[in-house]
Amino acid sequence: MYLCNCNGLTVTDVVKACAGGLNKAGEVFACYKVEECCGKCVPEIEECLLNSKKK
Ligand code: FES
Repeated sequence: MYLCNCNGLTVTDVVKACAGGLNKAGEVFACYKVEECCGKCVPEIEECLLNSKKK
C-alpha cells in the first residue's frame, strides 16, 4: 500500500526506515532521496513510524 503517492513510498518502505532508526517523515524522505511534495502523507508516515516502533 502506498503511503506517499507523490514519491511512491509504501508502508513497507516506511517500516524498513523505522527499523533503521528513523523517527521523522523528513528523515524517511531523505533516506529514500526524495522530497516532500504535497505533504499529505506526513501525518500518515509519522503514525506508521510510531506504530512500527511499538512492535
Ligand atoms: S503524498 Fe507524500 S508528499 Fe505527497
